Amino acid sequence: RIAYVNGRYVRHADACVHIEDRGYQFADGVYEVCEVARGYIMDMPGHLNRLDRSLRELSIAWPVSRRVLQNLMSEVVRRNRVTNGLVYLQVTRGVALRDHAFPAPGTRPALVITAKRTSPEASAKRAESGISVITVPENRWDRVDIKTVGLLPNVLARQQAKEAGAQEAWFVDKDGNVTEGAATNAWIVTADGTLVTRPADHGILRGITRTTVLKVAEKLNLKVEERGFSVDEAKKAREAFITAGTTVVMPVVIIDGLPVANGHPGSVATSLRQAFFDVAE
Ligand code: PDD
Repeated sequence: RIAYVNGRYVRHADACVHIEDRGYQFADGVYEVCEVARGYIMDMPGHLNRLDRSLRELSIAWPVSRRVLQNLMSEVVRRNRVTNGLVYLQVTRGVALRDHAFPAPGTRPALVITAKRTSPEASAKRAESGISVITVPENRWDRVDIKTVGLLPNVLARQQAKEAGAQEAWFVDKDGNVTEGAATNAWIVTADGTLVTRPADHGILRGITRTTVLKVAEKLNLKVEERGFSVDEAKKAREAFITAGTTVVMPVVIIDGLPVANGHPGSVATSLRQAFFDVAE
């Protein structure tokens, strides 16, 4: 495997960053995970727009131009011969002696890009059986709309899910509403077939897959409500599912140990998953 690190392509095994990198010391950086399907990076503009927003919110400069970054990502995909998989890119504020305030202007942001293959067959198989989620109290900061590498609450939640034999954890806010998963957005389907997902203006990350699924839903003439939903509503829902670049649309069949409907993936999630690749670019 080959990684791109600050201007160089290096063997993945030899790739390293400086010990004074602010990403390492303060989680002072942002990232994107893009899906690669049939050799193409899906929704590149969406990812670059979100990256731009994350960088802007944190006053981190672009490490290279948008066009160059696009080329670098494609090149990392090519060099790793990824047909189906994921591209990971991370931008940190750069290397400077440890001091909480921003380093001197002109400190170069650090850029790392990696790519790996994933198995569409394994993912399809997983989607046929569906996954389990647990719910955990929302304990993240107020700016989860920024795709920062500061993911400790997400790490702890996902580990808790794993130890409970589940695949994802849903954060639940003080009002009892589901915000999102540790690394996915959360959805339910109501008794009358309406898709429900939390609005992306606050409290969640605006998932690229979420946006695409909203377009797919429109194409399939499905009713959509962007509103909060409670754990209780989710447990009684006709269907539940999660979305992310890593899972696309993945049915949720168990919440906190209890089956959703009959405990099998529902028809809405299944048809959204199938239609997804026709709409995604
Ligand atoms: N996670 N919410 C959170 C907290 C996420 O970390 C992610 C993505 C999503 C879904 O976003 P998208 O559809 O753009 O992948 C929602 C990535 C995949 C990760 O951390 O690995």
